[in-house]
Amino acid sequence: MNIIEALYARKSIRGFLPDPVDRKIIEKILSAAVRAPSAMNTQPWEFVVLSGKLLDEARKKIVEKLNTGAPMKPDHLVAGWPRESIYRTRQVNLAKQLFKLMDIAREDKEKRAWWLERGFRFFDAPVAVIVLSDRSLSESGPLLDIGAVTSYICLAALHYGLGTCIEDQGVLYPEVVREIAGIPDEKRIMIAVAMGYPDPDFPANRLETPREPVDSITTWVGF
Ligand SMILES: Cc1cc2nc3c(=O)[nH]c(=O)nc-3n(C[C@H](O)[C@H](O)[C@H](O)COP(=O)(O)O)c2cc1C
Repeated sequence: MNIIEALYARKSIRGFLPDPVDRKIIEKILSAAVRAPSAMNTQPWEFVVLSGKLLDEARKKIVEKLNTGAPMKPDHLVAGWPRESIYRTRQVNLAKQLFKLMDIAREDKEKRAWWLERGFRFFDAPVAVIVLSDRSLSESGPLLDIGAVTSYICLAALHYGLGTCIEDQGVLYPEVVREIAGIPDEKRIMIAVAMGYPDPDFPANRLETPREPVDSITTWVGF
């Protein structure tokens, strides 16, 4: 797969086979991913890779918090979108596409709650990569670099037949992962990547999200 093929092939995977992922493969993925560019080569990232019983424990505790309405105090900046905006429209369209594939009716509160929970359970992936930054850096400063390395993780994973979903949901209760993985307070929990072998029969994995045509978002100057 060449680079352009990989860029088109990557997509979010939200249903995984239970098969474990060899730690050596994850090491190779992370080694490739840290080739990502960062401002002044500052590399403002660290990783915690969770799997097995401890990941299951994290899922359980996160879902308990979700279901008891515990307040979410994420470490990372959470994006919000103005109600009457194209961004909100795209967000709603994504939800509609996913619910259609998953056969979840708008009024079906139970199934919607089940779907929400899945995100908080890292989509039951066998691996969750948690991306950290350092609190000595500003909250927004390393975001571009974190975004780059996170994308690289997803692209490198493809090479090994692994699917990924970058996700906020898994780190909206950062205290759970912090406690289980022993992450020190100086580290900010930025984002999670659910990772594993894609379940070919999981309907949401069929989703192909649209993109705005480049012509409508690009201004060409001097051509
Ligand atoms: C910063 C970030 C946070 C995300 N958080 C979630 C999430 O919490 N749950 C989820 O299902 N997908 C999440 N996604 C995946 C996006 O929904 C997905 O990338 C987008 O719809 C485009 O689809 P694609 O990845 O299949 O191309 C996140 C992606 C990014 C970049």
